[in-house]
Amino acid sequence: MIKRRILVTGGTGYIGTHTIVELQAKGFEVIVIDSLVNSLSGVLNQVEQISGTKPLFYEFDLCDKTALENLFTIEKNIDAIIHFAALKAVGDSVENPLLYYQNNMLSLMNVLDAMIKFKVKNIVFSSSCTVYGQPDSLPVSEETPMKKPESPYGQTKQMAEQILSDVVKSTSLDVISLRYFNPIGAHDSALIGEYPIGAPNNLVPMITQTAVGIREKLLVFGDDYNTKDGSCIRDYIHVVDIAKAHVVAIERLLEGKNKSNYEVFNLGTGFGFTVLETIKAFEKVSQQKLNYEITSRRTGDVEKVYADTQLANNELGWKAERDLENMLLTAWNWQLNLKELKLK
Ligand code: UFG
Repeated sequence: MIKRRILVTGGTGYIGTHTIVELQAKGFEVIVIDSLVNSLSGVLNQVEQISGTKPLFYEFDLCDKTALENLFTIEKNIDAIIHFAALKAVGDSVENPLLYYQNNMLSLMNVLDAMIKFKVKNIVFSSSCTVYGQPDSLPVSEETPMKKPESPYGQTKQMAEQILSDVVKSTSLDVISLRYFNPIGAHDSALIGEYPIGAPNNLVPMITQTAVGIREKLLVFGDDYNTKDGSCIRDYIHVVDIAKAHVVAIERLLEGKNKSNYEVFNLGTGFGFTVLETIKAFEKVSQQKLNYEITSRRTGDVEKVYADTQLANNELGWKAERDLENMLLTAWNWQLNLKELKLK
């Protein structure tokens, strides 16, 4: 049987690697493109250790249209694309807005142009709950009106969704945008996980790096929000649950089960946890105290956000399965294993 071929942009990144493993488990052949600005090609050896197969890898920047077209000329019969590749640090995007607009928009437009030129019909796009800004009501459903995003990064996700929803109207492309809430955790094997290059921005890598002694303490950004303990609320979701949702979305497109050319789904658990609850859960699973200190609010942080997951549950037939403790335990096991792995 001929294997269906999926092109994964940003495939050496955090969500990309986990998604490749799930795609391979379902019998897909995977081709990876990554510029390696925020990741290491060595993670594909880790993928191979898990799945037994190393995906084909091309290193280039998607802003390089010629390189992208060359790839499509060489690699025929691509059935669908999962487009993860993007810059994603919120604070960095405030400092370097032009870089974010140039990189995230141009890469998407090049991918779409190439899809039209080389007749690839299906794409799953990596979106974010950041497109909702601070919503007026919770939980947030796909129908909740989008607010102005808090950062240029968030703006690029909103603009990308706008571009995609416009493009499907005049082409035969089929698109599914998946809006992730807060992906955390790692593969059960502890062979792949989140690997921030430089200081992490996100809560869970900060927690695990503090616990392992790379950082002295964790700063909790604010305890004066209107929440039960004053710290912000997020809908944390296991990265493997997110990865599985991508496989479901790809199968939906390939089987023509999508109900319109442009569909959007929230990927969350539907449960919100505060930062302090998350720290407590981590202390429980790691069986150690975490050194943390309350400090002032971080600019741009949304007070609380969690997903209405009904559409994804009912329409995709997908549901997040892992709980917060499992997310934190797998993140912790990955952090502990990192010392042994010597990633390059
Ligand atoms: N936090 C801390 N200390 C830290 C890091 C984070 O207290 O050192 C807090 C934040 O203030 C926030 C929570 O932990 O309340 C989660 O913060 P993250 O940085 O892990 O995640 P965000 O919710 O800020 O950002 C995530 C993604 C973004 C996306 C955004 C959408 O990382 O890509 O969700 O809401 F845009």
